[in-house]
Amino acid sequence: MKDFKRTLVTTALPYANGPVHIGHLAGVYVPADVYVRYLRNKGEDVLFIGGSDEHGVPITIMARKEGVTPQDIVDRYHRIIKKSFEEFGISFDVYSRTSSEIHRRTASEFFRTLYDKGEFVEKTSEQYYDEEAHQFLADRYITGTCPHCKNPNAYGDQCEACGTSLSPLDLIDPKSAISGSKPVLRETKHWYLPLDKHEAWLRKWILEDHKEWKANVYGQCKSWLDMGLQPRAVSRDLDWGIPVPVEGAEGKVLYVWFDAPIGYISNTKEIRPDDWETWWKDKSTRMIHFIGKDNIVFHCIVFPAMLKAEGSYILPDNVPANEFLNLEGDKISTSRNWAVWLHEYLADFPGKQDVLRYVLTANAPETKDNDFTWKDFQTRNNSELVAIYGNFINRALVLTHKYFDGKVPPLGELTNYDRETLDAIRASKPAIETMLDNFRFRDAQREAMNLARVGNKYLADTEPWKLAKSDMGRTATILHIALQIAANLAIAFDPFLPFSSGKLRKMLGMKEKNWEMLGHIDLLHTDDETEKPELLFEKIEDEPIQAQIQRLLETKKANEAAAFKPEPVGENIPYEEWEKCDLRVGTVLECAKVPKTDKLLQFRIDDGMGGRTIVSGIAQSYPDPAELVGKQVVFIANFEPRKLRGIMSEGMILSAVDADGKLRLVRPETPVKPGCKVG
Ligand code: MF3
Ligand code: ZN
Repeated sequence: MKDFKRTLVTTALPYANGPVHIGHLAGVYVPADVYVRYLRNKGEDVLFIGGSDEHGVPITIMARKEGVTPQDIVDRYHRIIKKSFEEFGISFDVYSRTSSEIHRRTASEFFRTLYDKGEFVEKTSEQYYDEEAHQFLADRYITGTCPHCKNPNAYGDQCEACGTSLSPLDLIDPKSAISGSKPVLRETKHWYLPLDKHEAWLRKWILEDHKEWKANVYGQCKSWLDMGLQPRAVSRDLDWGIPVPVEGAEGKVLYVWFDAPIGYISNTKEIRPDDWETWWKDKSTRMIHFIGKDNIVFHCIVFPAMLKAEGSYILPDNVPANEFLNLEGDKISTSRNWAVWLHEYLADFPGKQDVLRYVLTANAPETKDNDFTWKDFQTRNNSELVAIYGNFINRALVLTHKYFDGKVPPLGELTNYDRETLDAIRASKPAIETMLDNFRFRDAQREAMNLARVGNKYLADTEPWKLAKSDMGRTATILHIALQIAANLAIAFDPFLPFSSGKLRKMLGMKEKNWEMLGHIDLLHTDDETEKPELLFEKIEDEPIQAQIQRLLETKKANEAAAFKPEPVGENIPYEEWEKCDLRVGTVLECAKVPKTDKLLQFRIDDGMGGRTIVSGIAQSYPDPAELVGKQVVFIANFEPRKLRGIMSEGMILSAVDADGKLRLVRPETPVKPGCKVG
């Protein structure tokens, strides 16, 4: 690694149009926070930048839907997001927002500098304009029929039915989502960043000078570069955003992806008004962007091109982007409410921030998409945090209190096993460091847990509770070593599990958490006082886990129902054909499952004509057939009798097929005489 004096760590600014969920945390904020805490504990100069991304079209759409202003929307979510990050211990030095005045000024000046230097090209193009609403329409504000699948509700940028990305000009019968009127094409002028002109240096900078970037990041950059870069528009016709600071640009704002990364600069200015330039312009600063994979092109290609065009800024040293986290096998989605929201998690699992941090790191989507499941969450808590780490700490402290009054006992003569154990402690530091330095957080956390495993095994093997009866000296040595391991764990886990590490340090009476302490076996001294132990982690029972799984199942059901589209209506039939069908009402006399089948129920029906037997394939929707006795049903009385499983079935019972595939029997809304005609 090259020499540097300070590290600037940025995290993607989340859009302030919804709360944050576990996917955000796992992909960006937990790894960034672990990294920053690690650097801080090493005594390095680091600045950790976060904030909300408050511009862009989706925010204006949401505001319009709710009948409030975009500022109302971002005020609401900025507050919620900021609070969630605080609660989960994401230790930003600043968490600001792009609707701030300092940001408006910074982004505006940045644009103006590039404009004055001639770094943009101006182009006029035709775009849809709403003549009733008097405004140009963002792609999302235009709907129409998809040319590929004929879905009538496709958007100007994408058809959600078939997944094709579209341009507004592709839509058949385009309509304005604002006024409903038919938009017309009008000329409009925009400023473009000519990425094609930056391609050569970008190629060298990324593909040759940054071969060490993560494979997923490097690979995505390479494929963009190999396709050839195109000029990108950096302005939009919109009334929400930062006005383009050029004469004659009324009604135009900076494109959200132009202003948002400049937010990193604005937010740095906000907390370091006097030396922000050192953080952004001094070659001895190392800048790291933590982002998700959908942001790679903006952070590795577009933003660096902007910085380079400006001329006085440094470029990122690394962009450790993560892949995506799925939830119980499905893509996390805000609009489908398929997510674990951080504020809801905390309401359901108060005080368990570290558990979620632990699980998200253990499952971090570092090299491929990964899945969060509630069962895995429970298992990792119960069999790792509780059974290994927590159990070890608790035993070491309980025994220290039982035999030595809570004081660290003296170290006596060492056995070979003691020496091996101490070596394992010493070896943990370089191992964890290499992993953290290379953004391999899940490996690093696993290594820390391995140290807890060493401790747990050491106590299990040496059984000091048995020795205490005969050999106090040996018991003292063992507990001394165990307590040194505990102290090391407090240091090793601090970046990952800051809340529990704080608790543990307090119990051990440790005043410091300097990273350099890791790997040392003299962190505690004989006769140091420890506190009575409190459990670091608690077992999570099945019940709260089941409740979470149940909630997701309900969400899934609701989504299916919302997505329900009736089947297309079949071909017309003439009256005479319908007339042939003799529908009657009957009352169920008996109903039972047909043995050795999954789907069949055998009915005995009072049909007003002496009764009949009907076999019907609805057993899966009616697991308790007895409850149907006495209920009325509608059946086709002149359906040709046929044998099902050896039973002669004389008719067909009618039921409706619900959105989830469940069958529901059709019956008259008040009881009628058995045998009545339906028509
Ligand atoms: N708001 C964007 C997203 O959630 C990320 C913006 S990152 C920044 O995908 F660099 F532009 F700030
Ligand atoms: Zn389509």
